Amino acid sequence: MTEHVTITPSILYFGTPVVLLSTENADGTTNLAPMSSAWALGETVVLGLGSEGHSARNLGQRPELVINLPGPRLWPQVEALAPLTGRDPVPAAKRDVFRFEPDKFGAAGLHPEPAELVRPSRVAQCPIQLEATAIQVRPAAHGSFTIIEARVLRVHCAPELVVPGTQHVDPRRWSPLIYNFRHYFGLGPELGHTFRSQTRPSAQLAQ
Ligand SMILES: Cc1cc2nc3c(=O)[nH]c(=O)nc-3n(C[C@H](O)[C@H](O)[C@H](O)COP(=O)(O)O)c2cc1C
Repeated sequence: MTEHVTITPSILYFGTPVVLLSTENADGTTNLAPMSSAWALGETVVLGLGSEGHSARNLGQRPELVINLPGPRLWPQVEALAPLTGRDPVPAAKRDVFRFEPDKFGAAGLHPEPAELVRPSRVAQCPIQLEATAIQVRPAAHGSFTIIEARVLRVHCAPELVVPGTQHVDPRRWSPLIYNFRHYFGLGPELGHTFRSQTRPSAQLAQ
């Protein structure tokens, strides 16, 4: 292998699933924002948001949210949301590139559907939707970011993605949209599974 070089990249988005984040505006409507700094452990999802953004502000005031997971084919709709903010006026640092848009669903051709346990709407076209509540919203120790710790309350999944007769998402049918250094990708073919997988082919499960 050749020797590594030291670089100073402007961003470190090393390939994480895209989330369409629904939060509640002051007037009760839903703000929608693409984001990808998200990870899950147990029933907790941790999100990283720029503190100047409208989503972070909404969550500081109203803790309910929906974590909508788009599939790869939805990338043009995600990108339609990319230059928009729900914050009016647009913060000075974003003014050159972003514009205020109060109707993010309409702007991206996405359809709202009511959530069951929280006030922000779900995105109908997203095959997996996690209704959640923020249990901690705090400034990051470094940088102007807000770290949100959310507890998932209910999971909605397109029926064709569920392993029949189980509570499992079928990883061979579900594919996230990946944000890889500011480019959109889908997943490649399956390479294998961890020893703890509960969705192995039945022949392997019997062994
Ligand atoms: C695919 C994608 C991923 C993004 N990931 C994040 C992220 O993880 N955190 C963040 O603060 N902004 C992220 N952004 C930028 C926000 O979408 C952008 O700041 C937007 O204006 C936020 O909208 P809001 O102000 O209405 O919340 C991402 C944008 C795109 C297109």
